[in-house]
Amino acid sequence: MADGTKPPDRPVNNRPANNGPANNGPANNGPARQELQRGGEAVYRPRYAHIVGWGSYVPEKVITNHDLEQIVDTNDEWIRSRTGIAERHVAADPKETSVTLAVAAARKALEVADVPAGKIDLIVCATTTPEYAFPATACLIQDALGADNAGAFDLSAACSGFVYGLAMARGQILAGDAEYVLVIGTETLSRIVDWTDRGTCILFGDGAGAVLVAASEVPGGILAVDLGSDGSGGNTLILPAGGSALPTSLETVSSGMHYLKMDGKAVFRFATRVMAASTRKVLTRAGYTPEEVDLVVPHQANLRIIQNSVLNQLKIPEEKVFINLEKYGNTSTASIPIALCEAIAAGKLRTGHKVVFVGFGAGLTWAACAIDWRTPIDKAEADWWKNTRRQATYSAAAARSMWRRAVRWVYDVLPDPEAKGQDARRDREETGVQEGADEEG
Ligand code: UT7
Repeated sequence: MADGTKPPDRPVNNRPANNGPANNGPANNGPARQELQRGGEAVYRPRYAHIVGWGSYVPEKVITNHDLEQIVDTNDEWIRSRTGIAERHVAADPKETSVTLAVAAARKALEVADVPAGKIDLIVCATTTPEYAFPATACLIQDALGADNAGAFDLSAACSGFVYGLAMARGQILAGDAEYVLVIGTETLSRIVDWTDRGTCILFGDGAGAVLVAASEVPGGILAVDLGSDGSGGNTLILPAGGSALPTSLETVSSGMHYLKMDGKAVFRFATRVMAASTRKVLTRAGYTPEEVDLVVPHQANLRIIQNSVLNQLKIPEEKVFINLEKYGNTSTASIPIALCEAIAAGKLRTGHKVVFVGFGAGLTWAACAIDWRTPIDKAEADWWKNTRRQATYSAAAARSMWRRAVRWVYDVLPDPEAKGQDARRDREETGVQEGADEEG
């Protein structure tokens, strides 16, 4: 895992006084910010978006293929040969939710970057299993982290969501609107999976991954992104009930419409097509060839999809493609950041590497990004003082959140003096007593 790795040295821009970035850099990247100096002279400062922190977290409970044999009509051999999956982690404890998994992953990412939560400008939470329809899961994460200066929103692009989130982070940073953006993929898919449907329950797992994206003048980072969608395939992977089209009712629950439904074959065909095409697009935009790529971190849905697309169509050799779905199954938005953390821990990523993330999912959606990785990955010494201080800030964040809730509660239970005045006025009007009648009478 990403624990214990050293934060990178990275120059972080100060927010310039004016708006309006000017994209006058090299063709494939290099947006530059125009800053007006004293005297009105314009200077152009390059601005790049780098991943500077990473972390992941999965729940403890593991369900193996053999465990699934006890639940549905399946077997280890079928699951391994058709998907590559051997086991998956599930949030068995009801207290474990998409938020708690995300917070654990995000704290690790902040630790690696050595950036306090108070510096985050924006939290983008990609998830298909949000805590609620609203409020946004990102807001609950913001509160738990004590990220008091951050905007926060959820991003719904299913398994492509994490790469969509990176694209949002890059855009915010290159526009000069943010210095630090926390991008999270978090899932508790075990809560929306039909455990009697062998076509889907064998595939999915729970977990979270997070990265901190920072502004920098160091060339490189997230060079290019490709985002795509095809809503005509929306019904091939869908959670039918619980939205405005089919609100939850006794009927939707009794017919199991609150569970994920999938046409596996259709999704498979779509995935093998778009993974290669989207990868090609970002490589062209970044000015890379497939031969130059050092590491591909694909969405971990099915080993055969990765083989048919990245390996066979793009001819990128197996040793350059990081695959860990055997241990986690498909964790949707969390699969790429979890795999990234493991790739880093396994020594697969070094400064100067050309990296691609590519994913696909419900929507239908797809997304890829090309990265010129510049962040050092060396191990850091454990720092007792820093760890203690960090723990103290998390406790302070929890206390602050409780205090704010308590203040709201007090406002709710205390009689509102203004409302009391209005009530008294209405009583007087209803009983025909005029203002000042007491004194006069
Ligand atoms: O993040 C995006 C999420 N979704 C995906 O990535 C899904 C993409 N699709 C897939 O990964 C594959 O389509 C699956 C793994 C879901 C299914 O693999 P498949 O090779 O397309 O199998 P299939 O649906 O064509 O089923 C083949 C046979 C069927 O039996 P018959 O009709 O040939 O007798 C199924 O009933 O396998 C049967 N089957 C199973 N057998 C044992 C389906 N599921 C299972 C199972 N265990 N779990």
